[in-house]
Amino acid sequence: MSLDLIGKYLDAVETADPIKYAGRVTRVQGLLVESEGPQAVVGEVCKILVPRTGKTAWAEVVGLRKDAVQLMSYSPLDGIEVGSRVIATGELLSVPVSERLLGRVLDSMGRPTDGKGDIASPTRYPAVAAPPDALTRRRITKRVVTGVRSIDGLLPLGKGQRIGVFAGSGVGKSTLLGMIARNTDADVNVIALIGERGREVRDFIENDLGEEGLARSVLIVSTSDTPPLARLRGAYVAAAVAEYFRDQGADVMLLFDSVTRFARAQREIGLAAGEPPATRGYTPSVFDSMPRLLERAGTSDKGTITGVFTILVDGDDMDEPIADTVRGILDGHVVLTRKLAERYHYPAVDVLKSISRLSPAVTGPITQKAMGAVRKLMAVYAENEDMISIGAYQKGADKGIDAAIAAREGVEAFLNQAVGERAPIGETMAGLAAISGVEIPASDWEPFADLAGPSWTPPGGYARSARAEAEADVELAPPRSTIPVAPAGPGPAEAAPGEAGTA
Ligand SMILES: Nc1ncnc2c1ncn2[C@@H]1O[C@H](COP(=O)(O)OP(=O)(O)OP(=O)(O)O)[C@@H](O)[C@H]1O
Ligand SMILES: [Mg+2]
Repeated sequence: MSLDLIGKYLDAVETADPIKYAGRVTRVQGLLVESEGPQAVVGEVCKILVPRTGKTAWAEVVGLRKDAVQLMSYSPLDGIEVGSRVIATGELLSVPVSERLLGRVLDSMGRPTDGKGDIASPTRYPAVAAPPDALTRRRITKRVVTGVRSIDGLLPLGKGQRIGVFAGSGVGKSTLLGMIARNTDADVNVIALIGERGREVRDFIENDLGEEGLARSVLIVSTSDTPPLARLRGAYVAAAVAEYFRDQGADVMLLFDSVTRFARAQREIGLAAGEPPATRGYTPSVFDSMPRLLERAGTSDKGTITGVFTILVDGDDMDEPIADTVRGILDGHVVLTRKLAERYHYPAVDVLKSISRLSPAVTGPITQKAMGAVRKLMAVYAENEDMISIGAYQKGADKGIDAAIAAREGVEAFLNQAVGERAPIGETMAGLAAISGVEIPASDWEPFADLAGPSWTPPGGYARSARAEAEADVELAPPRSTIPVAPAGPGPAEAAPGEAGTA
């Protein structure tokens, strides 16, 4: 019996008890769809059958009223009409997980969009999950190497740390994430591109990540043209995938771009559901959802998820509500400034404005001394920069300023790094020693770096997915939102009902 036929019978069975499992759309307003029936719980995934295209729009129950089920869709509502059938699946959103996810690109529901076939896996992880219990979380004692000198040298991160990258638009957040993805010593990258423009996604995969980076990565993409629920769930799906690899014992690098767009999606949903706008138009659920997302990174008793979350700050306003909230949850922040980017100082990390709160846990005392010395040289230079640059400073007038001027060139060279340049940790530590004038013995930093090799590798090896990628040479599927809506009036159905037509 063909699968189609089974599907038809299953649909018939599902609709046999119409009050329980099937309902009808009664109202569509903005993002919200209301239906009479089915019997469903909040968070349950439902199918809405779109009569015009014969396809399925996937939606989620976001509210229940006495007489109506409130739904929001993962895809645009085009074609849905009053009377469209709504079928409850009886399930919450979950993602099939497997090591075969490496090298793959998923949509906000965790379905592959790269045309390389399904992730056939019997294991599924729930998209919405609670963070590990605080008491079972391992302490952070090892550093994760990002391969970015300014971070590894002066803002060292621990495996399982959560850090924010704060920057205005176009200052280099995505480029920095790409550099980390390619160069980190983490076992797996999980990259969430939430609310990015569609064009940027392709750029990111081809230019920033490259083939080698992709083989060790799983991408979850919800572009800006997808409905807010898709952007929200894309974020949770990424967290679930990261949790799967952490459960395998891997050190995972979760690169999340961007929290701001995640928060805006939550705001759109909150406003549509009738929440009052609170701080600067953000609804209370925004502030509630952020810790629930960010806390899912971190250590567990099995492995680690290092979280790098980008936050857009307009006009370098670090006190804007999202930036402020996120800063309070995370264990540090890396600030990128336009001033540095304009000087073509890349990556535009403003070291003096940035802090890694776990730096003392993953560095030895001599390294800390060296980092302190460099920060001091930079601070003295910054304080006197105006005077120095107009030539008003007389050499010899102040020993500290003389030292800062003498060190300046070396520090700049250390902090600047070309996009394609890899910075191994040994070289970074040697560079730090050179610019600080503090000799750093290997015994001071090696115990913190996992130099012995990865704690986890996929059973089939990374190369397999790299090869599959090279051989596949397929176009990425178009973003899910571009559902071709058939012109009004009867026409040939493009897909049988029940097919995942929104992919
Ligand atoms: N390390 C770098 N070296 C050279 N140029 C860079 C570097 N990082 C960023 N740029 C330049 O800055 C531009 C914007 O970078 P990027 O897209 O990473 O910024 P963004 O902060 O992610 O922007 P948006 O806010 O739009 O998402 C790049 O196209 C590139 O020209
Ligand atoms: Mg970007």
